[in-house]
This record gives sequence, C-alpha cells and structure tokens, in this order.
Amino acid sequence: MSRTIIAPSVLSADFSKLGDEVETIVRAGADWIHLDVMDGHFVPNITFGPPVIKAIRNRTDKVFDCHLMITPADPYLAAFADAGCDVITVHAEAGPHLDRSLQAIRNLGKKAGVSLNPSTPESVIEYVLDRLDLVLLMTVNPGFGGQAFIPSVVEKVKRVKAMIGDRPIDIEIDGGVTPETAPLVAAAGANVLVAGSAVFKGGSEASYRANIEAIRTASDG
Ligand code: DX5
Ligand code: ZN
Repeated sequence: MSRTIIAPSVLSADFSKLGDEVETIVRAGADWIHLDVMDGHFVPNITFGPPVIKAIRNRTDKVFDCHLMITPADPYLAAFADAGCDVITVHAEAGPHLDRSLQAIRNLGKKAGVSLNPSTPESVIEYVLDRLDLVLLMTVNPGFGGQAFIPSVVEKVKRVKAMIGDRPIDIEIDGGVTPETAPLVAAAGANVLVAGSAVFKGGSEASYRANIEAIRTASDG
C-alpha cells in the first residue's frame, strides 16, 4: 500500500505569517498544502481567495489542494487555476451542474475534485467518475476547523472506494483527522488526509513535525 498523503490545512495556521507557515509545514513533512476557501454563503465562515493563494504560491512547489466551499464556483475556477492551485475541488451541493464544473477544471489543466458533505450520499458521483481525479469526503460539516469527526462517514469511504474500482482517483478525508481517527479512514480506503488543528497545534516546526508524524504512523503503521 502506498504511503498516505498528509495535507495540512492552513486554516489552522497563523494567518499573520501565512507564507512562513507554509514553508515551516513543508519542512515539517507536509505532502500537500490544503487551502480552505469559504464564502460566508455556502458555509458560515469567510477565509481567503485567489490573491492570497497567489501570494504564497512561491513559498513551495508542493501540490496546492484547493477546497472550494463557495457557491457559485464556476465563475471563479479560472482565477483559482491562475493563482496556482493544482487540485481544485468543488462541492457537489454547491451547484446544479457538477459535470460542467469538473469539465471546466480539467479544461484549465488542473486536477478535478468533488467534495461531499457528511449527509450527502455517494451516489451523486456515480455518473461523473470518469471526470474525477479526487473525491473529498467531509468528516465534519464544512466551515470551521477543530470540529469532531463524524464516524458514519467511514462507511461512505468504503462505498466510494468500491465505486471507484481501479480508476486513479484519490480519496481524501477532511475534518477531525487525528492520530485516533486517521487509521479508521485509512483502513477504509482513504489515501489523502487533511488535518488542520491536529497538525498546527504547538505552533513550532518541531511540534508540526511530531504532529504530522503521529498521523502518518497511525495511518501507515
Ligand atoms: C473545514 C475545512 C477543513 C478544516 C479541517 O470546513 O474544510 O479543511 O480546516 O480542520 P480540522 O482538521 O481542525 O478538523
Ligand atoms: Zn478543507
């Protein structure tokens, strides 16, 4: 089994020194950088958009994994691609034309992801599987870091894994990932784990490294 990809969410970083935080978390072992974009409309919180992403793009060449919690998403896809996102994920619940959104992301030369809220059934991806590079299963209701993991999603991970079959699609988990919950979703088939509060706690490179290592060891054994 290949090594789990750890994608720290900068939502839990110190925004007053975001570029430095990105460099530090990469030195501490991050594989991808997870970017939570919130619009105060699709989710009850507001974060940042393309200019901020563009400003930190030159701090690392790691994958920028952009999680769009915005509606509508389609008018902004090109701006996020231009800002330097490598993976662009839209929510299935955020618009009526998921197939169109996924095509638009791939036409921009980026990897296309779909995210499902905890209550959304996996059947919504059935007819877009061949347009997908990543499925992001939310294990909290999106909007805030530091919430408790919703265990019912573990079953959904298994179902999505079965639906995907041998297609090269990543299964990513987002929300409440800790050394305790990571093994549950890794065993169910997830290969990318987002973690915010569990990774950025401690506020120093040494603690970030230990936090990432604890999740990695728990997932990969
Ligand atoms: C929640 C975001 C997550 C969040 C995870 O809406 O999508 O990426 O930052 O934070 P933790 O790991 O603290 O649950
Ligand atoms: Zn996220």
